[in-house]
Amino acid sequence: MNTEFKNVTLVDHPVVARDLTILRNRNTPPPVFRSALGRIAIILAYHSLKRLPLRKVRVDTPIQETDGYELDTEIAVVSILRAGLGLVDAVMQFIPEARVGHLGMYRDEQTHLPIDYYSKIPRNIERHHVLLVDPMLATGGSAVDSITFLKSKGAKNIRFMCLISAPEGVRKIQEAHPDVSIITAAIDERLNEDAFIVPGLGDAGDRIFGTI
Ligand code: PRP
Repeated sequence: MNTEFKNVTLVDHPVVARDLTILRNRNTPPPVFRSALGRIAIILAYHSLKRLPLRKVRVDTPIQETDGYELDTEIAVVSILRAGLGLVDAVMQFIPEARVGHLGMYRDEQTHLPIDYYSKIPRNIERHHVLLVDPMLATGGSAVDSITFLKSKGAKNIRFMCLISAPEGVRKIQEAHPDVSIITAAIDERLNEDAFIVPGLGDAGDRIFGTI
């Protein structure tokens, strides 16, 4: 589970390894890509939702009263558009009451810098544990800007869940936001000259939505 990177959970699971290979395969069509991504997202979400605060409650079973637990926080899932949309449903399966935020951001093809075009996040974001989701962490520009924005709105407890990371992106988040933990299924080799992750899987948004 641990890597040489601090505050990073590298999820190691046979289903993840199998599905990641399906996602990396250039010949995988969008419907198959989406279902493999959905399966991995469930495992990533499981790990991303560990160590949330609980409060004790009493519950009546059909037999007798006993101790139980409720989440002692509100949860917000914030998706970096577009590709982050492919991860939201998995988190909602665990936390159906979660609020969902969206941050519209795309990477300029020449400068590789993120350009933001939309934002809508839940009210009282400071009361929430925030799970920011995007399948790809490349240069880290999009994630760092998103975290900076969320913090500017008051968010304090932020975790970043992604599918494939480049070491460059992990370092960038850790330098800018050392308090943010990263949950990822893979840390790949490097970025190429176009700032694509190598070996990666190409453009996740295009592959999810069939816009290649
Ligand atoms: C991709 C990806 C991340 C970002 C990662 O999105 O989904 O949001 O690039 O790159 P970075 O770490 O260097 O910022 P893209 O810009 O292709 O937009 P899309 O999701 O709309 O396809």
